[in-house]
Amino acid sequence: MHNSRGEIGLGKKRSTSVSSRALSKTIDEIFIRFSSALRTAQIYEPNNQTFIGHIHSLFSLLENILSQEGGASFRFQENTLFFNNTRIKFDFFSYNNFKFLADEFREKDIGAIGFEPGLSDKELSEFIVLLANPPENKEASFEDISTQLISRGITHIFLERIHPYDAAARMKAEKVKPAAKKVFFRSIKHLKESFENNKENQKLQLKTTRRLIQAMVDLISRDESFIIGMTNIKNYDDYTVNHSTNVAVLSLCFGRRLGLDKEELTELGLSAFFHDIGKLDIPEEILDKKDKLSEEERKIMEKHTLHGVEKLLSLKDSSFLPVKTLYVVLEHHLWANLSGYPNYWKRNKISLYSKIVKICDFFDSVTTERPYRDYVLTWDQALSLMLEKSGTEFDPVLLKVFASMVGVYPIGSLVALNTEELGIVMEANPEVALMLRPKVKLITDRNGKKIDGEIIDLTEMNPTKGEYKRSIVKSLDPRQYNIQVADYFLAQEN
Ligand SMILES: [Fe+2]
Ligand SMILES: [Fe+2]
Repeated sequence: MHNSRGEIGLGKKRSTSVSSRALSKTIDEIFIRFSSALRTAQIYEPNNQTFIGHIHSLFSLLENILSQEGGASFRFQENTLFFNNTRIKFDFFSYNNFKFLADEFREKDIGAIGFEPGLSDKELSEFIVLLANPPENKEASFEDISTQLISRGITHIFLERIHPYDAAARMKAEKVKPAAKKVFFRSIKHLKESFENNKENQKLQLKTTRRLIQAMVDLISRDESFIIGMTNIKNYDDYTVNHSTNVAVLSLCFGRRLGLDKEELTELGLSAFFHDIGKLDIPEEILDKKDKLSEEERKIMEKHTLHGVEKLLSLKDSSFLPVKTLYVVLEHHLWANLSGYPNYWKRNKISLYSKIVKICDFFDSVTTERPYRDYVLTWDQALSLMLEKSGTEFDPVLLKVFASMVGVYPIGSLVALNTEELGIVMEANPEVALMLRPKVKLITDRNGKKIDGEIIDLTEMNPTKGEYKRSIVKSLDPRQYNIQVADYFLAQEN
């Protein structure tokens, strides 16, 4: 046994797994309290009872940690959080709170925040009020907050400036949306080309596919909601091509929420991208047939899973393809209860990636117009249909995570407000309690006239009346209002 610090740390973690679990629970709670306190301070005065309540809970959590650990520091680095130098993992519930705080800190150039024993609740409360009301000059907010800490005598909280690498990542944030669009359309183009080339038995250019998927993974870690919104682009090109890109995007966002690492995400993305590659061998008359398929046609259609596996195995560059991809191609129409097809199934288990792709595949498909179906579902209709099939067709736990990802009012859905304006949901509210209050872009005024309106935050309150300025009444089907949701995403440059 070595006596290096790393070894000691590891040993300690192993022998006290219960207490390390308790610690990560405490850290989760700190994030919930911290983000709630900050959000409350953004709306109310410091003497507000809710705010005082949040500060009180946050303070006792921190005090507890300080007495056990002798110090508490949170460091945000490359979208990862370290607590006293240990990397913190999130489940999907705590992730939103982490993301909210990480964004707030990044905006103010804060890379790390530390608390020292002796911290008082007054210091904590003043600090959060400071964070909630940043100075006019955003460029200098780090200096400003640091100076204010000193001038107010807050001596048990210290800040560290963001690492230049992360600052650079933040600078690039304005470029995320144009970059996301580029990657999205390049993926469609690339997939189309590889499908066409494949018909002539050429190589699939898997290296390029891998690079595109990696680019998507990076972009998703920067702006998930925008990229999920892009999957509202339907039938831009050949159905299978556009659909495969959408399923890859949704699966990547989903996998990221499940905590998969970059390499795993790339494998998942590749698998999702190629899930329907076997459809290349199915005649178009069957693929796009308006009427119900005959028994024989249905059998041919179902063969796309087997054809897909054969096709991938016969590729010259198939060594670039993860084995998991073969499973997804084969299993993506199997149900959680093992019915579905291929129906001679002998295994009693379906791979995780197949279950993920199954959910994203179904979701994208029922929300897209198809010649053989006279209905298209809105996102919330699709979700409620899927929830009815939870446990039979879909894995119940995964489905819950997926539902929370696309949300009650998912990104890209058209909503009617109580002010009689219409809007498109642009960004979900990270706080579960405020799920019904996303950010919405106004697209018509009160008289139904189309406008290029501003993006409003539905948590905005009317200060004199003490009530919300606007609320969502219900979600609407964009086709009935002749609205192309995708246009609003594509028009949005930042
Ligand atoms: Fe399929
Ligand atoms: Fe599919």
